[in-house]
Amino acid sequence: MLQPPSAFAMSKTLALIPILLVSLALPLLAQKTIPARILIYSATREFRHDSIPTAIQALQSKASSINVTFDDTEDQNQFADDILAGYDALLFLDNTGEVLDDEGKAAFQRYLNLGGNFIGIHSASDCLRNTTFYERELGAYFDYHPPLQNATVNVIDASHPSTSILPAQWKVQDEMYNFKSDPRSVGAVVILSADESSYNDPGPRNFDQGTPHPTAWYQEHGAGVENGGTSGRSFYTSLGHLNETWQDDLFMAHVLGGITWTLQSNTTRAFNSSAMVGNTESTSTSTNSTSSSGPSTESGS
Ligand SMILES: *[C@@H]1O[C@H](CO)[C@@H](O)[C@H](O)[C@H]1NC(C)=O
Ligand SMILES: *[C@@H]1O[C@H](CO)[C@@H](O)[C@H](O)[C@H]1NC(C)=O
Ligand SMILES: *[C@@H]1O[C@H](CO)[C@@H](O)[C@H](O)[C@H]1NC(C)=O
Ligand SMILES: *[C@@H]1O[C@H](CO)[C@@H](O)[C@H](O)[C@H]1NC(C)=O
Ligand SMILES: *[C@@H]1O[C@H](CO)[C@@H](O)[C@H](O)[C@H]1NC(C)=O
Ligand SMILES: *[C@@H]1O[C@H](CO)[C@@H](O)[C@H](O)[C@H]1NC(C)=O
Ligand SMILES: *[C@@H]1O[C@H](CO)[C@@H](O)[C@H](O)[C@H]1NC(C)=O
Repeated sequence: MLQPPSAFAMSKTLALIPILLVSLALPLLAQKTIPARILIYSATREFRHDSIPTAIQALQSKASSINVTFDDTEDQNQFADDILAGYDALLFLDNTGEVLDDEGKAAFQRYLNLGGNFIGIHSASDCLRNTTFYERELGAYFDYHPPLQNATVNVIDASHPSTSILPAQWKVQDEMYNFKSDPRSVGAVVILSADESSYNDPGPRNFDQGTPHPTAWYQEHGAGVENGGTSGRSFYTSLGHLNETWQDDLFMAHVLGGITWTLQSNTTRAFNSSAMVGNTESTSTSTNSTSSSGPSTESGS
């Protein structure tokens, strides 16, 4: 590419064309060749859902359809800076109780500060009950649920990829969770709401979870981040109790829509080559490509 100065001056306009093409094409290539990598964490210290293996298998079977790779673990020692840094999102699945030690929580907090994304499913709202950053990143802690039964869940915001594919009144067989606070109080947008007239809940309700009754929500900027950090996205759904649920196409579309939306925070390497966390598996070529496209930034301005 190096040319004598005189030749460069004469063909300056022509020389810019391939540089511009390369600089336009590389970000697109990078997005396609680096699959997002997500860590599924399903550790439990109290109640254990027997649907956890079914859920992991269902997610794995859909991974390539949304261009992600899933790793799954129940080992709290995976919550270390160097390991978490390789993930575009952490997916908490059906956890209960104190599933991280203090070091793990600190690494998790730093991951969120670096732009990491969070996804929580079902009893992910029933773990780390004394951990304020987790409560905020999640949106609200689980309080109690009435017995498993059939219920109707209303789509109250169909503009989100996790709800746009659902019927406006979605009939489910699941646990209708109640929460200890209103997720809207930390900035969450509630997108699914339990229709309380469609099922029986004897209570008692000891907390104000807001109305309409929150069942799934998202946060554009996960509230678990510390001041000065880069916030990723957060998505939570309280559904997903039964094996059968994880074999249901609508439920899977709901979860997969939530995952793909979360990754589009663009704060991780899946969609941001300068991000601080996310998959690095395919970056060997893009690292070289990025550096060779360096001069185009100068020429372009
Ligand atoms: C759910 O599936 C798992 C296997 O993945 C099985 O061990 C468990 O018994 C199933 N639960 C019910 C209630 O059938
Ligand atoms: C996955 O990647 C393929 C090829 O790179 C692309 O055509 C497709 O649109 C992507 N799918 C999603 C859901 O991002
Ligand atoms: C959480 O805090 C409550 C109230 O302070 C305390 O009773 C409980 O033991 C704590 N749980 C854990 C796991 O630290
Ligand atoms: C509850 O829903 C399931 C399917 O989701 C259905 O098979 C069952 O018949 C329903 N039960 C009642 C009592 O309506
Ligand atoms: C992330 O990038 C995509 C593709 O450029 C864009 O459509 C989306 O709006 C971006 N998301 C955010 C939060 O900026
Ligand atoms: C990409 O990541 C860098 C470094 O974290 C950040 O400064 C930038 O805002 C990110 N871009 C987007 C679109 O989020
Ligand atoms: C960049 O390319 C060179 C030569 O092709 C190679 O030796 C080097 O390992 C590559 N760098 C990375 C980070 O992969």
